[in-house]
Amino acid sequence: MAKKNNNLSPVSLVTVANANSVISEQLRAIRSNINFSSVDKDLQSMVITSSGAGEGKSTMSANLAVVFANSGKRVLLVDADLRKPTVALTFRLPNHRGLSTLIADRNSQFDDHIQESGVENLSIMTSGPIPPNPSELLQSQRMTDLIPELTAQFDLIIFDMPPIGVVTDAQILAAKTDGTLLVVRERKTTKQGLIKAKKLLTLANAHLIGVVYNGVKKGNADNYYYYA
Ligand SMILES: Nc1ncnc2c1ncn2[C@@H]1O[C@H](COP(=O)(O)OP(=O)(O)OP(=O)(O)O)[C@@H](O)[C@H]1O
Ligand SMILES: [Mg+2]
Repeated sequence: MAKKNNNLSPVSLVTVANANSVISEQLRAIRSNINFSSVDKDLQSMVITSSGAGEGKSTMSANLAVVFANSGKRVLLVDADLRKPTVALTFRLPNHRGLSTLIADRNSQFDDHIQESGVENLSIMTSGPIPPNPSELLQSQRMTDLIPELTAQFDLIIFDMPPIGVVTDAQILAAKTDGTLLVVRERKTTKQGLIKAKKLLTLANAHLIGVVYNGVKKGNADNYYYYA
C-alpha cells in the first residue's frame, strides 16, 4: 500500500490521491495486462512514449510506477525526458542530480542519483539538469552499461520519454530495454502519428508490449484508460 504523502501532486498522481478511483482500477488492469504480455520473459525495463507531445506519457509513467510499486515490485521511475522533464515536479523532488548527471559523471554511482518517492517500493531518478545533447547521452555506452546495473537493483525500471515522432530519444532507449508502451490520446493522436511511431519502434527493433488509450469522457472531467 502507498504511504500517505500529502506533498504529492494531486493532479497527475491519481493512484496516490485516490487509490480506489475508477482510473486507479484501470491502471491496475493495465498492470495485469503488462504482466500477462510478458509471461515468458520477465519484463525488467520499459519505455513509455507516444507519437506526439502532451499525450499523457508522463501521467501514465508516474501512475503506472505507483501501481507496480503497490503490487510489491521494487520500482525505479526514471525521467528520461531530458528535454521537458516533469517527474521532479510531480513528486516534488529536487532535480540537481538525476539521469543527466549520472551519465555525465562517469565516476559516480547510480545510488547518488536516486531519491525516495514517498511511496513504498518506488524510487525516483529525476532528469537532472537539462543537457545540451540528450540523444547523445542516451546513446552513450555509459547508458547501455547502466541498464543492467539498475535492473540488478530493481524489479522494474520505467523510463518516461519524449515523443517518439519528434525526437529519437525514445527509439534509442526502446532498443536497450525489454518493452515499450505506446500512449494514444483521444482526439490528439493522429492515425499517421501512430503508424509512424510503430514504424520507428520496428526500425529500432523494439518490443511493443501494448498500446494504452488515454481518453477523456465527453462532458465529464473523468479520464479513462484502455489497454490493447
Ligand atoms: N486523460 C486525460 N484527461 C485530461 N488531462 C490529461 C489526461 N492525460 C493527461 N492529461 C493532462 O495533459 C497534460 C499532458 O500530460 P502529460 O504531461 O502526461 O503528457 P506527456 O505526453 O508526458 O507530455 P510531453 O510530450 O510534454 O512530455 C497534463 O497537464 C496532464 O495532467
Ligand atoms: Mg512528458
